[in-house]
Amino acid sequence: WRSRPSEQQPTYPDAAEAARVLCDLAALPPLVSSAEVERLRFELAEAAEGRRFLLQAGDCAERFSECTSPRIAAQLKVLLQMGLVLERAAGVPVIRVGRLGGQYAKPRSEAVERRGAVSLPSFAGDLVNRPTFSPEARTPDPALLVEGYARAALTVNFIRALIDGGFGDLNHPEWWSLDGGGESAVIARWNALVDSVRRGVGANASVGEPASAAATVPVFTSREGLLLAFEAAQTRTVPRRSGWWNLATHFPWIGVRTLRRGSAHVEYFRGLENPIGLKVGPQLDPRELVELLGVLDPRRVPGRITLIHRFGAAEIERCLPEAIAAVAASGHPVLWCLDPMHGNGEWVEVPRGGGEPVRVKTRRIERIVEELEAAGETHRRLGVRLGGLHLEATPEPVTECLGGRSGVGEVDLPRDYRSLIDPRLNYLQALEVAFAAAERLFGASAPSDEPGTPGEPLVEVHAGDRNRTCMGFPTGT
Ligand code: PEP
Ligand code: CO
Repeated sequence: WRSRPSEQQPTYPDAAEAARVLCDLAALPPLVSSAEVERLRFELAEAAEGRRFLLQAGDCAERFSECTSPRIAAQLKVLLQMGLVLERAAGVPVIRVGRLGGQYAKPRSEAVERRGAVSLPSFAGDLVNRPTFSPEARTPDPALLVEGYARAALTVNFIRALIDGGFGDLNHPEWWSLDGGGESAVIARWNALVDSVRRGVGANASVGEPASAAATVPVFTSREGLLLAFEAAQTRTVPRRSGWWNLATHFPWIGVRTLRRGSAHVEYFRGLENPIGLKVGPQLDPRELVELLGVLDPRRVPGRITLIHRFGAAEIERCLPEAIAAVAASGHPVLWCLDPMHGNGEWVEVPRGGGEPVRVKTRRIERIVEELEAAGETHRRLGVRLGGLHLEATPEPVTECLGGRSGVGEVDLPRDYRSLIDPRLNYLQALEVAFAAAERLFGASAPSDEPGTPGEPLVEVHAGDRNRTCMGFPTGT
């Protein structure tokens, strides 16, 4: 891959120092095991056959400053809660994959940020440079690679401990309460769902066993595999298995900006054993997509490729049928996953008392749900399974996305806009989108706004998963 054209890579002022750092990184132990990676690939293959459903969610960009106990626990909680909503509706186990444990590097549409007469490299995530608009802060610093690796390890370690300690156990309601504040139809609906699940779970739980297999269900990690030298430093062979494994994350993906025929990213990913995601946007010609599948999955390994389509509500009806037809004709066994976030970004001008209006990047819940609906309908019509959902969500009550039942309006946006890159669903919006997906993709019944409305008892979908060992329980290399 080093000889191929690569985009979005930082240029370090001291190349020798960067090389030393990468060498040090390569000697450190991995964050995940090849057995876990293989298990995920197997589960993704099952999702492609409709026997599981993939939920991949988390921050657009993790921040080093948010590598804290409450933040990690809260982020895990959102992931588990959305997973529960989808699992109830889908009737199959949900594979929980976080955009976390190293989602620190960001591709940028503009390599340079201009402010007045000054141009500096754009902020490209905590792994690369710093957000302050000064030449020192924006210069890529290889020390951040080590810090990022360490913080990813701390994050993964804490999540393993939480899961192992029963964080997802439905009999511990403190983990399951929805603290969005105030009265809301989303909260009422969530409470009704938890009540009904608990009634089902309680009947099956025996003393000494986890009350719900959700307690032991693994959480996998994923991130955009953007900085190739960094990814390569964590790519290794393992005893008694063939091939090369990226053991810094279970599930790396190639973003739209680097997914190109002949690119360094495609060449690097081609050599991995991991399951990989491809972000598919409107710019990618379906013929090129099929060529890429030939390069990245020549042996047509089930579970190897997840196509994460992110066309946007405006383009999905034009683009998705062509992509589905081309892939179906190629015979590659892919898992289709919808990202209704990245094709629905827009800029709005928000008036500011006295001063110039500010331009804010946002996404509307209505557009996100519209794309969900179109995706569900198109996949159904063409007889192809939609087996996953990819979201950017945060546990805080941020005001980055517009709309939804909590009613974030344009004037509210500046109030609590924290993301430095893409706008994320806040806690209640995330749950709301999960409920919308449950309806639009699985025909789950329309919202019941009445607290305590009984639901169907939880189907014992996890029965076979009780002893799964992954993020909860260390497995061998
Ligand atoms: C992302 O997932 O944050 C991202 C940048 O996505 P995409 O490559 O689809 O634009
Ligand atoms: Co993003």
